[in-house]
Amino acid sequence: MAYFQRHVIILALVILLSIICTKHTVHCDDEEDSLFSGLNSYRATLNLSTLKENDRAKCLADKIADQFKNQPCTNTTGSNTVPGTEPEFSNYPQLLEKCHLNVSTTRDGVVLPACVPNLDPTLVLSNFTQSQYSMSLNDTKYTGVGIGSEDDWIVVVLTTSTPEGGYSPGSNNIGFGSKIVHMQYSMFLLMAVLSFLWI
Ligand SMILES: *[C@@H]1O[C@H](CO)[C@@H](O)[C@H](O)[C@H]1NC(C)=O
Ligand SMILES: *[C@@H]1O[C@H](CO)[C@@H](O)[C@H](O)[C@H]1NC(C)=O
Ligand SMILES: *[C@@H]1O[C@H](CO)[C@@H](O)[C@H](O)[C@H]1NC(C)=O
Ligand SMILES: *[C@@H]1O[C@H](CO)[C@@H](O)[C@H](O)[C@H]1NC(C)=O
Ligand SMILES: *[C@@H]1O[C@H](CO)[C@@H](O)[C@H](O)[C@H]1NC(C)=O
Repeated sequence: MAYFQRHVIILALVILLSIICTKHTVHCDDEEDSLFSGLNSYRATLNLSTLKENDRAKCLADKIADQFKNQPCTNTTGSNTVPGTEPEFSNYPQLLEKCHLNVSTTRDGVVLPACVPNLDPTLVLSNFTQSQYSMSLNDTKYTGVGIGSEDDWIVVVLTTSTPEGGYSPGSNNIGFGSKIVHMQYSMFLLMAVLSFLWI
């Protein structure tokens, strides 16, 4: 009987885990992964270098997406924005600080927010590759990328390999929040495995 109960508990845990995983796109990052490979395929067709993932740029992209998340998509937001009218966040220095960055290592980078209902992958990619943002994506000076998303917003941060845009850290202790999520996830798996062994 106890044997049966343990199986039910484990089954429930596994189901719970898959629900968490599908409900929280933030934790499973499908749209971000798909945009990442899409951007690199685009760069490959132009014979440009592959963009490498930059953890601190990703951290900043997440924080910025978080600032945008309650704004609806319109024809003047995201990649449709008129250059120079992008919203300025008064807390931008704090966002940098949270990611252990500062203006002197980020000023040559570029932040590209896009708003696409439900983050439809095809529309997301074309919002970057077929808009004014393609100017940045076509540029050889960018070598790294960080992608963050929240609701209908997805933010791409491009970094350079120069000190002024390399997003080099004051400290490497980044993405604390997402690390915790990953830790919970790992703990969960560990628990599941242990319970199986225990049986
Ligand atoms: C990329 O490189 C290939 C081979 O070197 C060349 O045939 C092609 O025209 C290049 N494409 C562009 C967009 O420069
Ligand atoms: C945005 O949409 C509004 C109403 O749908 C329209 O009047 C306006 O011209 C559009 N603006 C641009 C830049 O397309
Ligand atoms: C960008 O996304 C919007 C949806 O928010 C879509 O209407 C528009 O066509 C997309 N633009 C491009 C260039 O793909
Ligand atoms: C970027 O390159 C593509 C392909 O060569 C081109 O169609 C697009 O117009 C370029 N974008 C800009 C802003 O120059
Ligand atoms: C930014 O960080 C670098 C290295 O950590 C430091 O040398 C520089 O003084 C900092 N700049 C500002 C404006 O805080």
